[in-house]
Amino acid sequence: MPRLLVTGGAGFIGANFVHHWLERHPDDRLIVLDALTYAGNLANLEPVKDRSAFRFVRGDIRDTALVEELLREEGLDTVVHFAAESHVDRSIHGPDAFIETNVQGTHSMLKAARKVWLEGRTVPSHRFHHVSTDEVYGSLAPDDPAFHERTPYAPNSPYSASKAASDHLVRAYHHTYGLAVTTSNCSNNYGPFHFPEKLIPLMIVNLLHGKELPIYGDGRNVRDWLHVSDHCRGIELILQDGRPGEVYNIGGGVESENLTLVETLCRVADAAFTEQKDLGSRFPDCPAARGGKASGLIRFVKDRPGHDRRYAIDCGKIERELGYRAAVTLEAGLRETFNWYLANEWWWRAVMDGSYERWIDTHYR
Ligand code: NAD
Ligand code: DAU
Repeated sequence: MPRLLVTGGAGFIGANFVHHWLERHPDDRLIVLDALTYAGNLANLEPVKDRSAFRFVRGDIRDTALVEELLREEGLDTVVHFAAESHVDRSIHGPDAFIETNVQGTHSMLKAARKVWLEGRTVPSHRFHHVSTDEVYGSLAPDDPAFHERTPYAPNSPYSASKAASDHLVRAYHHTYGLAVTTSNCSNNYGPFHFPEKLIPLMIVNLLHGKELPIYGDGRNVRDWLHVSDHCRGIELILQDGRPGEVYNIGGGVESENLTLVETLCRVADAAFTEQKDLGSRFPDCPAARGGKASGLIRFVKDRPGHDRRYAIDCGKIERELGYRAAVTLEAGLRETFNWYLANEWWWRAVMDGSYERWIDTHYR
């Protein structure tokens, strides 16, 4: 039975992974290590916090001694490394935190794993899984083939450059020291617990309030969208049967221009307001509450500097080798996600009005 250290487990994908794993492997020991930055939220882990197999540790991945202690003390043999600064716009305005967490932090994790697992020989076998992004491959022209595992790296933002550097360090620790690593490079996730600074949750929250929906540039940038549950399943397959030293791309196989995606989301919202009569009184400022269309809120705004034009993912390798298939269609996933935000208004309000920050200050700082 694996014993896992999940870094960044209080963030969006990390928390979804914790729920995914503990549902399927309820007896596995699972420790979350998370610094609880603005993106980390203990409310995301509320449903599992009292389980005996689960432990939360507030700490920084750059604290190598802490990571070594956890690996030793808990007899852990598996690291699933999510912790990162993850928002491209923030990396443009303040790259330092991205170098510190994504590059130095990943190196700290690798050093600890090497010391405990390779030098200390604390466990008979081990696995270090690194969660990375398709953004390391750069930007595609409209007719370029999708990114595959041998596409040369060409990161364009401080975020993607920091993730690319971390990927190289992971690779180097395998080749030089024999650390049993795997890496996944994944496309744009969406789903529950997604922080409302990223495109989909930001648009949901804005349209419910009747606020403008800002589309960068001409809205024709293309992303591949993946429901977070499919990402978690992909990582589970890699942990179970992925080959050490290998890289696996994970995607949803659905390319969409940003404008089209936001228009689809607006239609999902309009339909929900027609079907669920209470929404009009809960969100009176949404145009759909007055029989209007949410898409009327769309506004084109100044483009993101260096904005990558297109991402597309070839996930043939993980499909062939590990039997991966994305199960959630974009339309169904957007409906389900919209409904999650309707049902969990307390969650995003707490994140956005600062009350969660104040709660954390009282309890953890
Ligand atoms: P997120 O920003 O929602 O969560 C990041 C988590 O890491 C937070 O809980 C935060 O508190 C924690 N953290 C940050 N710095 C830390 C530090 N120094 N020490 C310990 N914990 C720290 O991110 P996410 O969207 O869930 O992404 C998770 C991982 O997946 C990242 O590595 C990201 O690069 C990668 N990824 C994300 C996407 C996506 O669409 N969101 C797609 C592909 C890959
Ligand atoms: O591709 C995987 C990456 O996807 C992950 O590695 C990143 O961690 C994750 O944040 C995401 O990066 P993006 O930059 O693609 O995601 P974001 O939600 O910020 O933006 C998606 C697209 O929407 C992008 O083309 C920019 C555009 N956008 C975004 C925002 C926030 C807008 O047009 N308006 C907006 O307000």
